Amino acid sequence: MNTDKPAAAQPGSFVGAALLRCYNGWRMGQGPRTFYIETFGCQMNVHDSEKVAGTLIARGYRQVDNPREADLVLYNTCSVRDKAEQKVFSRLSQFKRANGHGKVFGVLGCVAQQEGAAIFEKAPHVSLVVGSASYRRLPELLEQAEAGRQRVTGLELDTDETFETEFARRDSPHRAFLTIMEGCDNHCAYCVVPFTRGRERSRTSAHILREAAELRDAGYTEIQLLGQNVNSYRDPSPARMNFPELLSAVAEVPGIRRVRFMTSHPRDFTRQIVAAIDSHASLCDHVHLPVQSGSDRVLARMQREYTRAEYLERIAWLRSARRRVSITTDLIVGFPGETEADFAETLSLLDAVRYDSAFSFKYSPRPNTPALALGEAVPESEKGRRLAVLQEKQREIQLARNQELVGSEQEVLVEGRREALGQWIGRTSQNRVLNFTVPEGMPDTIRPGCYAAVKVTRAGPNSLVGELSWRGTEV
Ligand code: SAH
Ligand code: SF4
Ligand code: F3S
Repeated sequence: MNTDKPAAAQPGSFVGAALLRCYNGWRMGQGPRTFYIETFGCQMNVHDSEKVAGTLIARGYRQVDNPREADLVLYNTCSVRDKAEQKVFSRLSQFKRANGHGKVFGVLGCVAQQEGAAIFEKAPHVSLVVGSASYRRLPELLEQAEAGRQRVTGLELDTDETFETEFARRDSPHRAFLTIMEGCDNHCAYCVVPFTRGRERSRTSAHILREAAELRDAGYTEIQLLGQNVNSYRDPSPARMNFPELLSAVAEVPGIRRVRFMTSHPRDFTRQIVAAIDSHASLCDHVHLPVQSGSDRVLARMQREYTRAEYLERIAWLRSARRRVSITTDLIVGFPGETEADFAETLSLLDAVRYDSAFSFKYSPRPNTPALALGEAVPESEKGRRLAVLQEKQREIQLARNQELVGSEQEVLVEGRREALGQWIGRTSQNRVLNFTVPEGMPDTIRPGCYAAVKVTRAGPNSLVGELSWRGTEV
């Protein structure tokens, strides 16, 4: 038992309750308890951390930037690839000796769900292990850990619940994440997510629309709808909205100027989504459509449930949209059994689509996944070679794509400033970074959160450079 904790605190007794409250919120004479949270992985995790942080702040905690200053240290983890998973254990090993100094360590997220109580064996100073499907119970679990209980877990996966909290503490005052669904019912052979996030569950359209209106009231102008597979959104309420209907409804919330969504599974991507983009100026000109491979043989072995031709049909729908929609993707090289000819098909797909941007990864074998049974591993050195070839090709495509925009005028949402370069940092509707300066003689009324019209003057593979156009700024 950890003797740092107030042993006299017996729940139910008045003195016990008061002591417990002191301990929970403010240790006597020491100000509020502090927490540190570090996040790995996808945007779902980033937003979960915002909700966890908000929940803690509502309980009287104060957030700090350094784990050394924190009473509670949380790592919100990712296990999508082996490298991501290793990060949390490397972080935890830095604190082995902190045990006994009153800190509480917690592991949240996908590694927590995947490894479960085994984490306590690997890192005995951890006392809290909670997967994302149990975040609703976080206040209760935290209370147990705060009261000195060791090995507190929240690992149930079979749930209908989503993490609903009114307390999210969002990182940006302008762009907000909004969860529409959690979990994944697909069986992509390489992917650990269905085992770490549980089955698909959607929030009601009424909850989502209310949150969008609240975000607008709080000054947000850009909303990003989040889900592992937003296209399979199923409204559990009698309104029965499908994803394109929900997308249109959020786009119609007055005052919301930009709406994005992530991620779309190509199998479920419909023409209706393109029609929604066509009829709502506030729906951003950007779709992330992960393809993973250009080879039908590999796609079938990955259990992606679409063919190259079906994927290209969806690209054709997007290319026929009224505005130029930027298309980005995820790719995996070296999936078991991927031949040189399969890889060549992925390269030819890059030429066929000309993605505006792509995230590419070496296949990483993950626990429990069906791909483990496939054998035919591609050697690590060959995966590395293929990744380098693919990334070089994509870099050239991206540079050419970006150069097509030189001379055009783009609206950006201003995100910040690079003082050293005297540049403002903006983001276009197509999700490109566009850094810009204000020409001499023009008043600089720019500030983060405003929208500005910017003329593109130069292009690199990863960003654009421009000048504030004479049309100026709009707040
Ligand atoms: N729900 C999203 C994917 C989330 S994981 C979707 O379906 O698109 C993000 C990306 O990580 C995937 O698109 C895939 O490209 C990559 N990924 C997932 N598992 C992987 C693995 N085992 N090895 C390498 N990359 C992987
Ligand atoms: Fe993983 Fe596939 Fe689900 Fe995406 S759709 S989270 S890649 S199983
Ligand atoms: Fe990683 Fe979990 Fe997201 S495995 S990519 S944090 S859903």
